Amino acid sequence: GTAARDGEPRRGGPADSAFVRACRREPGPHTPVWFMRQAGRSLPEYREIRANVGMLDSCRRPELVAEITLQPVRRHGVDAAILFSDIVVPVAAAGVDLDIVAGTGPVVAEPVRTREDVERIRPITRDDVSYVDEAVRMLVAELGDTPLIGFAGAPFTLASYLVEGGPSRTHAKTKALMYGQPELWHALCARLAEVTAAFLKVQVDAGVSAVQLFDSWAGALSEADYRRYVLPHSAAVLAGLADDFSGSRRGDGRAEPERSQGVPRIHFGVGTGELLGAMGEAGADVVGVDWRTPLDQATRRIGPDRAVQGNLDPCVLLAPWSVVETEVRRILEQGRAAPGHVFNLGHGVLPETDPDVLTRVVALVHEVSARPAD
Ligand code: CP3
Repeated sequence: GTAARDGEPRRGGPADSAFVRACRREPGPHTPVWFMRQAGRSLPEYREIRANVGMLDSCRRPELVAEITLQPVRRHGVDAAILFSDIVVPVAAAGVDLDIVAGTGPVVAEPVRTREDVERIRPITRDDVSYVDEAVRMLVAELGDTPLIGFAGAPFTLASYLVEGGPSRTHAKTKALMYGQPELWHALCARLAEVTAAFLKVQVDAGVSAVQLFDSWAGALSEADYRRYVLPHSAAVLAGLADDFSGSRRGDGRAEPERSQGVPRIHFGVGTGELLGAMGEAGADVVGVDWRTPLDQATRRIGPDRAVQGNLDPCVLLAPWSVVETEVRRILEQGRAAPGHVFNLGHGVLPETDPDVLTRVVALVHEVSARPAD
């Protein structure tokens, strides 16, 4: 059965999966693996289903969301599903006029410039994103023991799209607002934190087993600026999901398996080698690491209280298999320095990736990391 009895670890169900165990720094049967952007253009079955449906439309249709989310689970045998959605979905639900343009990314009709623009971003309730609630419930029923990861964009990364009006290499307008009008900046990030927290709460209430907060572009900031302008807002989001479990560590740094109430929180960004400690402190159980920082070094920066996720360069998947295999083995070895390791890429799957290579990586990670049952 799945009911927890006093003093006995819970058996079965997603809460007992290799993925959730690694997030909680508990021993498990093998190193779990999933891929950021595993649902997407690398899969022909995804391209087919999306042929006549816009990106935002597809995110608002629970049946489509469920089907697309399940595709990589069926095909690759990954240890976790990630909800098919986008970081701008809750912002659109909050009333911001935006679209996701293929090949470009999110494009905002009227970029945020003033206090009035910030006020127009409405707080959201479950009813504004009922399609997400429905999709998560359908998926949790379908997935059985496979955990579902919910996600949202962090305030800095969302603010960048809203202030720039679209993707940006330098985040120049965003930083100009941050340095030049700090009060307006903090008001914008506080509002985005509120929207994000509500969006994640809907997913947790509907049954996701973990959440990932994507601060994809936070690596554009120095640590000092990250701590001053960004960390408090991301911390507000993550604290809203606080997990009793984080308060009950044993002396060896591993978590007590029984105390858990919330869900593990993964915090990820690209180019964040200098921010890893701070991103952990923002309230993560797992810190996502890109390919630039080896996982053993990342663990030294993050400390023994948090697991790591990563960190194969997505471009390596385009190389010959012998190169992929060498890199996967190196990452598993360096991941052993961490108190928990979730294997992943350092950023999302590139659309030109051969999906069969992803399937082989999953099998290799499982084979190399398999631990005999005790
Ligand atoms: O499998 C998964 O990872 C779940 C799906 C997912 C999508 N977006 C679907 C999507 C996730 C987790 C996201 C998050 C997201 N969206 C982030 C954070 C992760 C990251 O990559 O850093 C960011 C920055 C965005 C904003 C965004 N949306 C971008 C940059 C793009 C790519 C634009 C393009 O066409 O190259 C999107 C669109 C998007 N989101 C696609 C998918 C599958 C591609 C749209 C399509 O298939 O037509």
